[in-house]
Amino acid sequence: MVDLEDSSSKIMDKETAHRRIFELRKTIEYHNARYYQQDAPEISDAEYDRLMKELQNLEALYPDDELASSPTQRVGAAPLSKFAPFAHPQPMLSLANAFGADEIKDFDSRVRRLAKSERVDYVAEPKLDGLAVNLIYENGRFRRGATRGDGAVGEDVTQNLKTIASLPLKMKTGAFRPIPEFIEVRGEVYMEKEPFEKLNRRRVEEGDAPFANPRNAAAGSLRQLDSKITARRPLNIFLYGVGSAGDAAFASHWEILETLAAWGFPVNPLIRPMPDINACIEYYEQTGSIRSSLPYDIDGVVLKVNRLEIQNLLGSVSRSPRWALACKFPAQQAATVIQDIIVQVGRTGTLTPVAVMEPVNVGGVLVSRATLHNEDEILKKDIRIGDAVLIQRAGDVIPEVVGVILSKRTGREKEFRMPRACPECGSEVVRQADEAAHRCVNLSCPAQLKEHIRHFASRGAMDIEGLGEKLSAQLFDAKMIADPADLYFLTKEKLLGLDRQAEKSAENLLEAVERSKTPALDKFIFALGIRHVGERTAKLLAGHFGSLEALMSAGCEELTAIREIGPEIAQSILEFFAEPKNRIVLEKFQRAGLSPRTPAPTAQASLQGKSFVFTGSMESMGRNKAKAAVESLGGIVHSSVTGKTSYVVAGSDPGSKLEKARKQSIPVIGEEEFLTMIGRQIHRQA
Ligand code: IVH
Repeated sequence: MVDLEDSSSKIMDKETAHRRIFELRKTIEYHNARYYQQDAPEISDAEYDRLMKELQNLEALYPDDELASSPTQRVGAAPLSKFAPFAHPQPMLSLANAFGADEIKDFDSRVRRLAKSERVDYVAEPKLDGLAVNLIYENGRFRRGATRGDGAVGEDVTQNLKTIASLPLKMKTGAFRPIPEFIEVRGEVYMEKEPFEKLNRRRVEEGDAPFANPRNAAAGSLRQLDSKITARRPLNIFLYGVGSAGDAAFASHWEILETLAAWGFPVNPLIRPMPDINACIEYYEQTGSIRSSLPYDIDGVVLKVNRLEIQNLLGSVSRSPRWALACKFPAQQAATVIQDIIVQVGRTGTLTPVAVMEPVNVGGVLVSRATLHNEDEILKKDIRIGDAVLIQRAGDVIPEVVGVILSKRTGREKEFRMPRACPECGSEVVRQADEAAHRCVNLSCPAQLKEHIRHFASRGAMDIEGLGEKLSAQLFDAKMIADPADLYFLTKEKLLGLDRQAEKSAENLLEAVERSKTPALDKFIFALGIRHVGERTAKLLAGHFGSLEALMSAGCEELTAIREIGPEIAQSILEFFAEPKNRIVLEKFQRAGLSPRTPAPTAQASLQGKSFVFTGSMESMGRNKAKAAVESLGGIVHSSVTGKTSYVVAGSDPGSKLEKARKQSIPVIGEEEFLTMIGRQIHRQA
C-alpha cells in the first residue's frame, strides 16, 4: 500500500495543528454518522482510516482539552478480557412497582401523608425497557460510565458507551446553569424495535442466534468486551436523572430534566409535569394505549415526586425511593401448553427447535408457535413437551417462552433432545464447540436447498415475484429445480405439469425470472447465500470489487482489508467460492445469461485501477490533497509517466511530463476535468 503523506508528518505550528485537529474531528463525526447511522458511507474505508490515523497522530503530538470528546475515542478500543468493577459514587436505586389505578392512588396517599401536604405534583415518564447506566462527567466531559450491577457496584463499560452516537462526549455550555465540576447522570440504554428486528434478521441470515427481545439485545451489545462490536449495534440512550450532582443544586426533578436537555443530553420527549395524581393516572392509561406505536419498548410509566425537598423528606426504604413509583402495564403475556417441539432446518443447516402450542391470544395476536432458539435455551429453561408455559410478545417481536409453570407439572411431560440425524435428510447433525447451534452436515440437504432457493428469490435478494416458500418447495419436490440456477431453465411446459399451476401464473413466474437476469451486483452476492454475508456485507463487497469475477479471485488479505470484514467472514467467502458444487451453480448462472450489473461508480471506488500523474500546479488543492482524493477513490498516483498511466493531470506551468504524455498518447486532463472526476466542485482559493 502507498504510504500516505498526511499533515501529521509535517512540522507545523501549534495553531495550524489545532485548526487541522478541529477540522478532522468534524469531518470524522460527519462520516461516522453517514456510516453508522445512515448506512450510507461517502468515503472509502481507506480514506476514513487515513483521516483517523492523521487525527490520532496529531492528537499525540498536540494534545488538547477536547481529546476526551474526540471521535478517536469513539471507535472502540482493544477488546477487554473482563470489565473492571465500578463503584457508583451514589448508589443506584430501583423502583417499587404498582399495577393499576388503585395502587397508584395508594402511593399518592402515602406520599401526601408523609409530606403532610394536601396536593403533591409529579413528573411522569415512560419506563423504558433497556438497561440502566450511570455516567460520570467531569467539567463537562464524559469520563466513565457503568452498568447498574447490584446498585452499589456495576461494570465499567466506558469504551462501549462512547460508541453510542446520541451520548454526548461533551456537555453543552450556554444552559441557564453552569456546568458542574462533577456530575453523575443516569439513564437507560435501549434499542429501538425496528433496528432490533433488522439486527436479528441479519444474525439469523449469518447463522447466529437471534436476541429474544430489544432489552436483551441492548444489554448484550453494551456488555461486549470488544467495543468494535458495540459500535455496530444500534444503541440509543435517554437520560432521566442525576446521582451526586456536586455543586448543581436543583429545586425540582422537572428542573433537572430541563437542565439535562439544555446540557445536550437526550431526554425522552414524552416526559410531562403533572399537577396531581389524577393527571398521572390519565397519563398512565394514555401511554398504555399508544405503547405499541412507539418506536421502542416500554413496560410502564415512572412517577416521580417533583419537589426535591419532598423527595429528601421521603427518603428511601429497602433500596427503593419512597418518592418514585414504577406503574407497570399489564404484561403482554399468556399461559398455554406446549403440544410438541419440532425442529426446522435453515438455509445454513442450522436446526432450530420450535414450540408448537395451543393457540393463545397475547396482546391481541393469536400465537401458536415460538422459537426456542437452541438446545441450551431449552435446557436452561427446562422446557418439556406437555409443559404449561408462560409466553410473551415484546413489541412486534417473535413470541418467546418466558418460563415453565412448574406448579402444573404432572410428571408426564417429555424431555426434548436434539435429533442426532437431520429431520429432513437423515444426515449427521453436529455441534461445533464454539457454537450454540446444531447443524446438518449435508450440503445437499433438501431443507437447506429449499431454504436456499427461497432466500435466493426473496425480496432484498433477486426479488423474483411470486416465488415464495411454497412454490420453491413445490418446484424442488417435483425435481424441476435442484438449485437456484435451475430457475433460469424452467419452461412453460414443465411448469404446467405442476399441480394447480395455471397457465397465467406459469407465465408470470417465467417473466419474473426473466426480469431478474440483470440484478444489481450486491443483490446477487446477497442472494448467493454465503454464510455471514448479509445485505450490508454484500453491498460492501459489490462496491469494493465491482464484479463477481474480481470478488471470486480475491484472497484473504484483500478481503480483510475492507473495514467490517473480519477473518471469519473472509474465510466463509473463500470457502464458498472454493466449493466445487457452488462453482457448478455459478457456471450455470452464466450459461443462463445472468449478468449482474456493476454498481454505478460510487464515491467509494470510482477510480479503481486508474493511475494518475500530476504536473504543474492546481489552483484548488495541493499535491497531497489531490493524491489523497485519488487514493480514497481507489486510484493510484505515480510520479512519472509510463505506458500504464491512465491520466496525466496538467495544472498551470506543467513540466516535461506533459510532453512525455503527449508522445505516448496518454490522456491529458485539466484541473476542472480532474475535479469532476473526483466529484468535487472547484473551490478557488481567494
Ligand atoms: S428512575 C430511583 N426513570 O427502571 C430511581 N428508571 O427499577 C431509579 N427505568 O433500573 C430509576 N425508565 O433501568 C427511572 N424513566 C425512568 C426509567 C427507569 C426505565 C428502569 C431503570 C431502573 C429500573 C427501576
